[in-house]
Amino acid sequence: MSDGNRTNYNKWWKNAVIYQIYPRSFADSNGDGIGDLQGIISKLDYLEKLGIDAIWLSPVCKSPQDDNGYDISDYQDIDPMFGTLQDMEELIAEAEKHHIRIIMDLVLNHSSDEHPWFLEAKKSRENPYHDYYVWRDGTEETFPNDMRAAFGGPAWEWVPEVGQFYFHQFSVKQPDLNWENPKLRREIYDMINWWIGKGVGGFRLDVIDQIAKEPDKQITNNGPRLHEFLRELSRETFQKADLVTVGEAWGANTELAKLYSNPDNSELSMVFQFEHICLDQIPGKEKWDLAPLPFLKLKEVFGRWQTHLYGKGWNSLFWNNHDLPRIVSRWGDDGKYRVESAKMLAILLHGMQGTPYIYQGEELGMTNVRYDMEEYRDIETLNLYRERLEKGYQKEDVMDSIYGKSRDNARTPMQWNNGENAGFTTGNPWIKVNPNYKEINAASQITDENSIFNCYRQLIRLRKQYPVFVDGEFHMLCDEDESVFAYSREDSDSQLLVICNFYGKTVNNPLEKPEDSAKLLIANYQDTDWNDILRPYEARMYLINKRDNI
Ligand code: GLC
Ligand code: CA
Repeated sequence: MSDGNRTNYNKWWKNAVIYQIYPRSFADSNGDGIGDLQGIISKLDYLEKLGIDAIWLSPVCKSPQDDNGYDISDYQDIDPMFGTLQDMEELIAEAEKHHIRIIMDLVLNHSSDEHPWFLEAKKSRENPYHDYYVWRDGTEETFPNDMRAAFGGPAWEWVPEVGQFYFHQFSVKQPDLNWENPKLRREIYDMINWWIGKGVGGFRLDVIDQIAKEPDKQITNNGPRLHEFLRELSRETFQKADLVTVGEAWGANTELAKLYSNPDNSELSMVFQFEHICLDQIPGKEKWDLAPLPFLKLKEVFGRWQTHLYGKGWNSLFWNNHDLPRIVSRWGDDGKYRVESAKMLAILLHGMQGTPYIYQGEELGMTNVRYDMEEYRDIETLNLYRERLEKGYQKEDVMDSIYGKSRDNARTPMQWNNGENAGFTTGNPWIKVNPNYKEINAASQITDENSIFNCYRQLIRLRKQYPVFVDGEFHMLCDEDESVFAYSREDSDSQLLVICNFYGKTVNNPLEKPEDSAKLLIANYQDTDWNDILRPYEARMYLINKRDNI
């Protein structure tokens, strides 16, 4: 596109760091045990101190909470559990005073079955809202096909009133919206523009690659009309304002990511892709079937995304979100080397090109949990437990899968201090607090300059200080090394060098010592001299000023 103003080259979100809040687990202001908007407002000082630029807020719209808000029954109102529309307006305004923008979670692939559109749609085939959803004929006993829903069971649900099945890729309470219908699309654009008018800073688009489904062909993601829909969506909404937009796209590869995040601004700012985060999954099996991480493959995947998107698109950088286990427990060490490994993972990720996302509690090194089954709350976890026991799995094996991958690992309350309920609530928390809150909490880390919190804080500052973080070209180093993850980023002025021992054993440092003028920007051990070995999880980041060497 020739219109220079519309290209993405100098966008604010390129040196921004985004913090994800899962509202029900962040901070509870009224003692009902559930985090809420006033709770978030009360923590804006903390977030400003950390230095983040924007908050991605998991859904706070009205919802029966079958899937914790990812089932929306009113896109233009706030769920009373979280507060009111006025609280939301207050959050946007207060956050702005802290130089923080609010990014809403848009769930556009499906609504709740309690949304007025669906209540109408299921009344009759002639109802004007019927075609807002995806229906197929059949008889009660014969499903249109054998497609399965992501949370278990068939993807089709029979509605006797209309004598048809509706399609749902997630729970039965999340009927899929029919994007083929232009009227539905128009309603969605109007709703988005209404939120833009309220001053939000952007949107995260839930499972956006699934909107162009074609169930007759068993197509769920990357349907033929996906990018046509996205371009229309962007033109009608996002392009009118200076927003950041990020699409959740489990099925993206680098070629597709270039479409989504084309610098001509025709679709989105960037995507969340999951190739790196699915690597400990056995191909063709479910995420619950645990496998060790193939480390060389991890390097290859990061390297490929960094180089393929360079100058042609934009990456999101993340280890965690509300659907993933805690990274320090997963690929670090949540025991002896918790602090070192959490910092190593942070340094490794934050030196790359893209927009980093920090998931609440990641900046404290919060860990996975091992609860008794009755403490779990997530619909996906509960369904898995039931289904696998029915299929004859051993209970211990099912529990191991849950300890490893349950989404509730990320959803335990934020650990603010060592007081009751970790300072999250004065009431009964909706989900049990991780018992390690006395040791791991924000209050103790803010004041400790060697804490994980302060490591993240420093990384955010560095990103703003040195342009090489934003525009430097990525080169993987020692890509065959079985323990060390090392890379450089280079622009015309400087070189950034990142060296990480990914494991808990001391190894030889495979790199040459950089010039004496190289500046150590950050490390996770306190002594600063170059060493020919790398200690457990040791991570170092250097800046080499090329002009010094001329
Ligand atoms: C996304 C969300 C997840 C939700 C699902 C259905 O993957 O991140 O939490 O359950 O979409 O909306
Ligand atoms: Ca509350």
